[in-house]
Amino acid sequence: MKKLLIKNGYVIDPKSGKNGHKDILISNGKIEKLAPSIALEDCGVSISKKTGLPKATELRVVDADGLLIAPGLVDVHVHFRDPGFTDKEDIYTGAKAAAKGGFTSVVMMANTKPAIDSVETMKYVLDKGRETAINVYACGNVTKGLKGEELTDMDALAAAGAVGFTDDGIPLINEDIVKQAMKKTAQLDMPISFHEEDPSVIDNNGINRGKASEYFGIGGSPRTAEINMIERDIKLAEGIRASIDIQHISTKEGVQLVREAKAAGMSIHAEATPHHFSLTEEAAIEHGTLAKMNPPLREEADRRAIIEGLVDETIDMIATDHAPHTAEEKARELTKAPSGIIGLETALSLGITNLVGAGYMTINKLIKLMSTNPAAVYHLDAGYIAENGPADIILVDTQASEVYEKESIASKASNTPFIGCELKGKVMMTICRGEVAYEA
Ligand code: DOR
Repeated sequence: MKKLLIKNGYVIDPKSGKNGHKDILISNGKIEKLAPSIALEDCGVSISKKTGLPKATELRVVDADGLLIAPGLVDVHVHFRDPGFTDKEDIYTGAKAAAKGGFTSVVMMANTKPAIDSVETMKYVLDKGRETAINVYACGNVTKGLKGEELTDMDALAAAGAVGFTDDGIPLINEDIVKQAMKKTAQLDMPISFHEEDPSVIDNNGINRGKASEYFGIGGSPRTAEINMIERDIKLAEGIRASIDIQHISTKEGVQLVREAKAAGMSIHAEATPHHFSLTEEAAIEHGTLAKMNPPLREEADRRAIIEGLVDETIDMIATDHAPHTAEEKARELTKAPSGIIGLETALSLGITNLVGAGYMTINKLIKLMSTNPAAVYHLDAGYIAENGPADIILVDTQASEVYEKESIASKASNTPFIGCELKGKVMMTICRGEVAYEA
């Protein structure tokens, strides 16, 4: 395997807190050496007598002058639609979109068809994931067939490689099932993530009840749908010590509930999507189905509270909820179109633009929320840059600015309201397991 030497970049490592100009030598999928300067002669490759340079077959040198080097991003919430809905996305195209967005590890949600509720489907997903250039992990389902009625064989799914459990996409209504699942995942020492929306109070999901629902003349989703479920699950988790992950948080009250539960010592985590920290229900009014997602975009006060939650790490992870749908599906009328938008290729630049550029946090903090923290919650060997650690890194031009064009999208789908937006920050190279997975 060819070695890689990345020279002159500015390396940030939120895990150790050590940042600075460093060279990185990569071999056999690992970081062999990390030092202020690494000479070509110290790379352990043959040097050509004619040119005095290392042989191109043995070493590639990348000049990262002016670029930021960060641990590869980790997204614990992606829908790759494989098996079952591969007209929207498949594991290969999803992984390509991830690599382009700077993600070296992703966790697939289990609302596929069949759902990832059996060892057989888990094996299919992970085997196919291994054929891609990044690390594809998956959650197993909490309940068989996403029906909310009967627990899956979590022991078997864990043994087959699940990194967490969820019925994402479908809220779990049965409290007894929720408690049993929390107990089991606590025993397995694995995270369990919850889609917190109470369907009994929602009338046409994907649009906030308020200004947007009034505009469209539909019922929409009230904020109480989320608040009630988070409250319930915090209560149900009492005394269980499960590692709870509240997915795609959308309300200020939800953020506050998580903050208080954390302060009370609960092992609770939360995810915010780039769209929930970037947009409000005004975007739904402007873009219609392209800004329809569950839970919906809400009000400016909610967006601000989500940002505050990210700043104080009440919300410890940014996760995209990358949810590809076909153009035909999103062309349907609002109430008939499916919820969800793609997010892998815009996540980092939305963070650089709306969180770092807007002055809410440093780039180091953003990388912590997009890499180090999610890796820790899902027990993945990722989210740091250190000798002998995984060679999963990204090279980012934080100053580059680009208009997001439909033609540039690597995902099979293009359901996003961000097309045409000028976004700051560009992934120049994604390296995963020591190999170049994407290069601009
Ligand atoms: O908008 C959404 N779409 N939210 C989810 O939780 C599921 C996702 C999907 O699978 O399309």
